[in-house]
Amino acid sequence: MTKNLLEGKKGIIFGALDENSIAWKVALKCKEEGATFTLTNAPVALRMGTIKKLAEACNAEVIPADVTLDADIEALFTKSMEVLGGKIDFVLHSVGMSPNVRKGKPYTDLSYEFFHKTLDISAMSLHRVLQCAKKLDAINEWGSVVTLTYIAAQRVFPDYGDMADAKALLESIVRSFGYHYGKDKKVRINSVSQSPTFTTAGSGVSGFDDFFGYADKMSPLGNAKAEDCANYCVSLFSDYTRMVTMQNLYHDGGFSSVGINAAALK
Ligand SMILES: NC(=O)c1ccc[n+]([C@@H]2O[C@H](COP(=O)([O-])OP(=O)(O)OC[C@H]3O[C@@H](n4cnc5c(N)ncnc54)[C@H](O)[C@@H]3O)[C@@H](O)[C@H]2O)c1
Repeated sequence: MTKNLLEGKKGIIFGALDENSIAWKVALKCKEEGATFTLTNAPVALRMGTIKKLAEACNAEVIPADVTLDADIEALFTKSMEVLGGKIDFVLHSVGMSPNVRKGKPYTDLSYEFFHKTLDISAMSLHRVLQCAKKLDAINEWGSVVTLTYIAAQRVFPDYGDMADAKALLESIVRSFGYHYGKDKKVRINSVSQSPTFTTAGSGVSGFDDFFGYADKMSPLGNAKAEDCANYCVSLFSDYTRMVTMQNLYHDGGFSSVGINAAALK
C-alpha cells in the first residue's frame, strides 16, 4: 500500500537501536513512502545496536548524538541539512530511558541523580531538539515533529516509575513548544501515545508481560503493533495532517477509552 506520501521530504529519525525499536519500523516505512533521512542515536547505542543494517536498507547516513548534549544536537541538524541537501521536513523523537526503572528502583525510593537523567533523556531532550532546530531555522514550514509517549502520563501504572513523570513533562513540552513553533514557523508537534510494545525500552519495565496482556485484552482492537505505529507516524509527517498540532494522540487500539472489558476479567 505504498503511496509515496513522503516523496521529497527530508527527515531525522532518533532512537533506532535494533529491529524491535519503534523507530526502526518508522524508518523502514518512511523509506518505503519516498522520504530521505538521517538516523541518529547515542554513541554507546551505536556501538551496542545494529543500526548499520538499517542504514544500509534505508540508504541513510548515521550521525551520532547524545540527546542530553546541546553540541551534539546542533551538529546533528547542521550535518543532516548538509547530507540531505536542505532543511528538514520531519523529525521522529523516539527516545526514552530511566536508570531508576532499569535498576529496579521503586517510585517511592528513587535516586534523584537518576531521576534527573530520566527527565533529561526522556523529556527535556525534546525541548533541546526543538530549541536547537528553531534557532538554526532547520525545519521547513508545515514540518512535523512526532515524539512517542505512554498513557502512564495520565493514569497510574505503578511499575512505570519515574518514566510516568517524564512522559507527563514530554507531553507538556509538545503543547508549549507546539504553540511557539506553530505561531512563528508553522511547525507542528504531536505526541503519539503507543500501546505496550516489545522493545528494549518496553521490556525493561518490570511486569511488562502482564501489562502487555492486560492492555491487549482491554483494547477492542488489541494492542497496536510497532508497524501500525510506523504507519501512523508517516501519516503525521505527511501533508494530510497539516492542521494537527499540540496533540497527544492515542494509538492504542482503543485502550484509553475503555472502562472495563469482560475479556480482561477472565
Ligand atoms: N515499547 C513500549 O511499550 C512503548 C510504549 C509507548 C511509548 N514508548 C516510547 O517509544 C520510544 C521508543 O522506545 P522503544 O520502545 O522503541 O525502545 P528502544 O529501546 O528501542 O528505543 C529507545 C531509544 O532511546 C535511545 N536513547 C537512550 N538514551 C539516549 C541518549 N542519551 N541519546 C540518544 N538516544 C538515547 C536508545 O538508544 C534507544 O534507541 C520511547 O520514548 C518509549 O518510551 C514505548
